[in-house]
Amino acid sequence: MKTRTKAEPTKAAQAGRAHRSPKRIVAVDLFCGAGGLAYGLKSAGLKVAAGVDLDPRCRFPIEQNCQAKFFERDVAEVSATDLRSWFGKADVRVLAGCAPCQPFSTYSQSRKSPDSRWELLQSFQRLALETLPEIVTMENVVGLATRTVWSEFVAALESVGYNVRWDEVACTDYGVPQKRKRLVLLASLLGPINLPDPTHREAPVTVRDAIAQLPPIAGGEAAGSDALHISSRLSATNMRRIRASRPGGTWRDWQPELRAECHRRETGATYPAVYGRMDWSKPSPTITTQFYGFGSGRFGHPEQDRALSIREAAILQSFPPDYRFVETTEDISFRGLGILIGNAVPPKLAQAIGKAIRAHVEGLELQPQ
Ligand SMILES: C[S@@+](CC[C@H](N)C(=O)[O-])C[C@H]1O[C@@H](n2cnc3c(N)ncnc32)[C@H](O)[C@@H]1O
Repeated sequence: MKTRTKAEPTKAAQAGRAHRSPKRIVAVDLFCGAGGLAYGLKSAGLKVAAGVDLDPRCRFPIEQNCQAKFFERDVAEVSATDLRSWFGKADVRVLAGCAPCQPFSTYSQSRKSPDSRWELLQSFQRLALETLPEIVTMENVVGLATRTVWSEFVAALESVGYNVRWDEVACTDYGVPQKRKRLVLLASLLGPINLPDPTHREAPVTVRDAIAQLPPIAGGEAAGSDALHISSRLSATNMRRIRASRPGGTWRDWQPELRAECHRRETGATYPAVYGRMDWSKPSPTITTQFYGFGSGRFGHPEQDRALSIREAAILQSFPPDYRFVETTEDISFRGLGILIGNAVPPKLAQAIGKAIRAHVEGLELQPQ
């Protein structure tokens, strides 16, 4: 005898479902940066209504690529009323964000007490508790999970009825061609929610898959086809160093006279993760805000004698190759775009988070009423 399990929809529920229109899932992205998180959510089918950031450089990429409204604001000053108006008439509201948890010297955070770095996470928590969106998602540095402020954040969500799941995830598992571990949280008032299932664990995307098709350029040169495919100029010494570097190797491969002063000393010999070329056959190392400097990490191109171009770093972060970061070529700055791109949530990871949210909402729609 066939028994009907609780999850199986009744005929009436199936009939009802046929007439139900899909839920309008609307996200607001706090600390939106250049839109890595917002773009990924959008490409999973969510509408991103608004992005909030202190940095005015975020307006162009958020509005151009994510079609979200940009608010140049301190999140600490955003009110529950603001948030409700940005969500508008959503069926399911998603509060998303990646609160910066390092002291921000540019915003005078470094002069405040050590605990002040967590204030931004607490602002995010305040807004979640004041507006109770159906879904909350947070992406952050892995180290945050060991802090009391994190367990307090999770406990606060649970205390008002959220089902909370969080874990450390490897970005390579979601098709990001880059080794980067991140903390991901999903919380729902609608029922138990799952973190995204890995899609690329068996076959990670490599540096070759991601950037081999870009036209070759020299250090300090831009490609005619794309002003963002530009790399920084190398000093004569760094040019000799990169020529002596092999993919996946370190400065230890060089002749001693090429080594930096600090690496000749005993204390510096333990820092192999700088001055290296990337390996074509592997995902790239973590893209930091300094990716354009050959001496700042393993950011040498696998075979061209230069560091990564801005476009290559963006693609290794899994931004699409035509993502627009600036309106005019005058706005291109290695430092400025280094911050926007290096600090971004990889869009492919964000897309996986967005798909997990959709699967959760669609799964609930299948439940009998
Ligand atoms: C880790 S980045 C966010 C990356 C972004 N979610 C993305 O995926 O591209 C953190 C952002 O927080 C912004 N920020 C720092 N303090 C802020 C504040 N008090 N209010 C609003 N934004 C702030 C920074 O300008 C930075 O863009």
